[in-house]
Amino acid sequence: MLASLAPRSDFPLLAANPGMHYLDSAATSQKPAAVLNAIHEFYATANANPHRGAYALSARATDLYHDARATVARFVGVADSDCVVFTRGTTEAMNLVASSWGRANVQAGDEIVVTALEHHANFVPWQQLAIATGATLRIVELTPQQTIDLEQLRAVVTTRTKLVAITHVSNAVGAITPLAEVVHLVRARSAAVIVVDGAQAVPHLPVPFDALGIDFYAFSGHKLLAPMGIGCLIGRRALLESMPPYQFGGDMIEWVRDTECTWNVIPHKFEAGTPNAADAVGLAAAIRYL
Ligand SMILES: Cc1ncc(COP(=O)(O)O)c(C=O)c1O
Repeated sequence: MLASLAPRSDFPLLAANPGMHYLDSAATSQKPAAVLNAIHEFYATANANPHRGAYALSARATDLYHDARATVARFVGVADSDCVVFTRGTTEAMNLVASSWGRANVQAGDEIVVTALEHHANFVPWQQLAIATGATLRIVELTPQQTIDLEQLRAVVTTRTKLVAITHVSNAVGAITPLAEVVHLVRARSAAVIVVDGAQAVPHLPVPFDALGIDFYAFSGHKLLAPMGIGCLIGRRALLESMPPYQFGGDMIEWVRDTECTWNVIPHKFEAGTPNAADAVGLAAAIRYL
């Protein structure tokens, strides 16, 4: 789809290799000059540690990082940009939810529902959470057309279901999950948290997060013309606020004493260490380009 919309000359790697036909955008997309230039510009004009320095350059880096978050929020239909947590990508976003929300909320006797269509990034964190907590992992099978069997999903989701993890678009067969139907079905049967893997959806479909009525949505920048190493977890405010931190150190701390700490507000509570501000700026440039 991108190839038919975007001129080849916008992509330095493709422009430099006229005979090359790149067919692996679902694995990772090529990057347009607009994105490469935005990253270069960040390092050439604004490089400083965001949030860490009381001087103009650090303030500029902080502003650009903040603006990138606001751009992502608009792109995925989130009114409250604090609900956008920058991660390394979809995989880290899923691990964040599994480690933080999962360890705090899932216990023996609970059930976690996934589907047979999931990428390992949206399967193994839940499998491991089930093993660690004694919960049961239920796997919804596929129809002969290789789509998620919604009738089976309907049968599998019960009041025991704590979490449903489901892909928005399949990386294997391209099937689009009817999320509105899934949300309706899950909400009618359980109080389960709904986690959606948007890695293959975000480059191609509008994602109205607030309107979808889901709890978490994850995606990777590098499939969206943005750099590798940047992605997002979108979560509902109340859930993110209730969750313990995922990693410790740096910006996620409010106060440190010898024997205890308090945590920063969201989204910073989940962004330990120096943020990947340059690639967040690159992600925002990719979104503007798209
Ligand atoms: C559907 C889906 N989910 C998750 C991932 C993992 O993404 P990442 O490796 O960027 O974390 C991919 C990557 O191929 C994917 O296609």
